[in-house]
Amino acid sequence: MTTPQNQAAWLKTAGAKLEVAEAPLPKAGPGELVVRNSAVAINPLDCHMQDLGVFVQQWPTIFGCDVAGTVYEVGQGVERFNAGDRVVGHTINLVSGRLQDGANALFTVVPADKAAILPDSISFTDGVVVPFALEAAVCALSLKEPGVALPGVSTPALALPYPSLEDPVPSLGKTLVVYGGSASTGAMVTQVATAAGIHVLSIVGASNFDLSKRCGAAQVFDHKDPSVVDKVIEAVRASGNEFVGIFDAVSTEATTPHDLAILAALGGGHLVCTHPPPPNVPKNVKAGMIFAVNDIATPIWKNFVTPALQSGKLKCLPPPTVVGKGLDKIQEALKKSAAGVSGTKLVVEL
Ligand SMILES: NC(=O)c1ccc[n+]([C@@H]2O[C@H](COP(=O)([O-])OP(=O)(O)OC[C@H]3O[C@@H](n4cnc5c(N)ncnc54)[C@H](OP(=O)(O)O)[C@@H]3O)[C@@H](O)[C@H]2O)c1
Repeated sequence: MTTPQNQAAWLKTAGAKLEVAEAPLPKAGPGELVVRNSAVAINPLDCHMQDLGVFVQQWPTIFGCDVAGTVYEVGQGVERFNAGDRVVGHTINLVSGRLQDGANALFTVVPADKAAILPDSISFTDGVVVPFALEAAVCALSLKEPGVALPGVSTPALALPYPSLEDPVPSLGKTLVVYGGSASTGAMVTQVATAAGIHVLSIVGASNFDLSKRCGAAQVFDHKDPSVVDKVIEAVRASGNEFVGIFDAVSTEATTPHDLAILAALGGGHLVCTHPPPPNVPKNVKAGMIFAVNDIATPIWKNFVTPALQSGKLKCLPPPTVVGKGLDKIQEALKKSAAGVSGTKLVVEL
C-alpha cells in the first residue's frame, strides 16, 4: 500500500489567512488513533486562534477541534477501534500544541478516549457537530471539584450525574436554565442535561424554539423578550424543582446581567460560563468557566456516545451547514463563523 500524502490548512502567524500545503503524515502513539478526516467543524474558538494566536504553542500551527472520518491507524493499547471504523473525535491541539492534533488536515491524531464509533446511519457531516460541544457539556455539568480553566479562573463543579441511556430517564427533581440554547454548546448542554434527568429551561432566539425543544428543553423563552428574566424566574419556581443554576453559552455583557438577576431572585446557584464569569458575583453564586478538554468526558465517549447516537437519544444538533468541500474552504468557514451563526454549526467536508 502506498503511503498517503497528508495536507493541512496551516496558520503561519496570528492574523494570517490559512494556507493549504503538505503536512507530515501523523503516526498513532499509544492510546491514539489517526483519522482520515471526511468532515471538520468550525468553532468560535478557531477564530480567536487564527486572529489572536490564543492557545497557539508553536508557529506555524494546525488547529481545529472536531473531526469525523475513518480510522487510518490505531496506536498501542487501543482496543475499542480498528482501522476502517467510522468515528467522530475531539482533537486536542488546543492543549497539546502538537501539529498532528489539529483537525484542519486530511489526517489527524485523535485520543482514543475522545472518540466514538459513528453509526452507519449518521453521515460524517452530521456527526462532526458533536465532539467539542459534547466535551464542553460534560465539563459544564459533571465536574465534581473546581479545577483551573484559566489562571485565576476556576471551572464550575456542578457534580451532576452523567447522561443515561435509559428512556425515559427518571427525573432528578432539578431545574437548569440554559442561556443560548441554540448555540452549539447550549444545544449540547440541553441534550446532555435532559438525558441526565434534569429539567431544562432554555433562553433562545424565537426562530430556534423548535431546535431547542428537539434538544430536550421543557420550555423555551425568547432572549429578545423584555420580560424574559421574570418569565424564567417564574418558570423555575413553577417547576417545583431544586434550582441548579444557569449554563450561559454566550457569557457576555448581553447575558450575564440577566444571569445574575435570575440567580438573585432564586437564592443563588451555579453560574457556568463559556468565558471568564463577571467579577464580584454575590457569595451565593458559584461562578466558573468551562475548559472543554477534560477527562471527565472519557466515560461518555466510551459508553454513551455510540449507543445514544444509534437510539437518537443524542442528536447531531445544532444541524450542520456545509460551507464547502476541501481544506481551502476552511478559511471561508472561519469568516462565516466570525460573522456569527444562528442555530447551526459550520462544517467543511473533505
Ligand atoms: N471555555 C470553553 O471551553 C468553551 C468551549 C466551547 C465554546 N466556548 C465559547 O462559547 C461561546 C459559544 O460557543 P458556541 O460554539 O456554542 O457558539 P455558537 O453556536 O456560534 O453560538 C451562536 C448562538 O448564540 C446565540 N446567541 C447569541 N447572542 C445571544 C443572546 N443574547 N441570547 C441568547 N442566545 C444568543 C444565537 O442564538 P439565536 O440565533 O437563537 O438568537 C446563536 O444560535 C463562544 O464564545 C466560544 O468561544 C468556550
